[in-house]
Amino acid sequence: MTAVSAVAHANIALVKYWGKRDGALMLPATSSVSLTLDAFRTTTTVTLLPEGAPDEVELDGVRLEGAPRTKVVRFLDLVRSQVPPELAGRGAGVVSRNDVPTGAGLASSASAFAALAGAAAGAYGLDLDRRGLSRLARRGSGSASRSVFGGFVRWNAGDLDDPVRGDETSYAEPLPTAPDLDVAMAVVVLDAGPKAIGSREAMASTVATSPYFPAWVEHTELDAAAATAAIAAGDLTVLGEIAEASAMRMHATMLAAYPAVRYLAPASLEVLDAVAALRADGVGAWATMDAGPNVKVLCAARDLELVGEALALAPDGARRRVLLARPGPGLRTETLP
Ligand code: ADP
Ligand code: DP6
Ligand code: CO
Repeated sequence: MTAVSAVAHANIALVKYWGKRDGALMLPATSSVSLTLDAFRTTTTVTLLPEGAPDEVELDGVRLEGAPRTKVVRFLDLVRSQVPPELAGRGAGVVSRNDVPTGAGLASSASAFAALAGAAAGAYGLDLDRRGLSRLARRGSGSASRSVFGGFVRWNAGDLDDPVRGDETSYAEPLPTAPDLDVAMAVVVLDAGPKAIGSREAMASTVATSPYFPAWVEHTELDAAAATAAIAAGDLTVLGEIAEASAMRMHATMLAAYPAVRYLAPASLEVLDAVAALRADGVGAWATMDAGPNVKVLCAARDLELVGEALALAPDGARRRVLLARPGPGLRTETLP
């Protein structure tokens, strides 16, 4: 039995991906820039089953059925379409564990499909370099293309004129990073439950109905270039300002969809206020939010404890749950005996 295990970490976008230009090939409307975190991981093992056996998919000890299983099976089919027939006919046993809440806007699909790409490619003997793994992971979930790499990462939109060239050129790559850019992220977990509407559907509805979408696309490409430059220059203030602006613009764009897509919750706004108050006190802290109510706050590594403590205090005296994260590594795989 061939079994390969892979570990990938979630990443949080600083310049957001929100919208596809090609849903089948999972080509994004724009480039995006992210930070891979140490705190959240997926571990996935793929074992080849005998010829003709149906795929079995387990997540956190529960057998997946329906749409979540179909997503994984389609992904396995894509891997099998690229290997010799004697391997392509074999089913797979997939056993996965998330150290990240699933579907909560904490990027479980990013760590999940990066790990699955590594484990499935390994088990089926598909020999891919890291760029190839990033392109493959992209087909499972766009944000997963970035989790193949650690630290600061950029996912290129790729060639916009032709889908075949687009597929070849839309991959993520690690970004040249100033050695003194020592960042961290405080993650304020307001709700770890699954979101009411998944990223994929919400994104498609935004593309189809938000009148602000063309402006979002135009501006995001500029933000991706500016963030890339700020990371190379080690300018945390510029990077933080771009990141917070990108998140707010993404939410504005989806709020303008019909029906509106709203992930911001009252408690999210309280945390955004707390981040602004930190800045008013001279602490460098910038908020970003994804498809969920939770708020992630970028800061210098030396300020992480202070920022985390400030954000843990809710106005009513209650304590919020805050996880302290630092830059994490890229995808790792291991062939099991
Ligand atoms: P998130 O904010 O967590 O990325 P998404 O809506 O993008 O939320 O994706 C959540 C979906 O990703 C889940 O419903 C499931 O289909 C899939 N997923 C998450 N983790 C795993 C995993 N470890 N293995 C397989 N599929 C996963
Ligand atoms: C808000 O990668 O989860 O987190 O490609 O449809 O699987 P699919 O969506 P997904 O979208 C992530 C959206 C985001 C922003 C980002 O990570 O760039
Ligand atoms: Co996701």
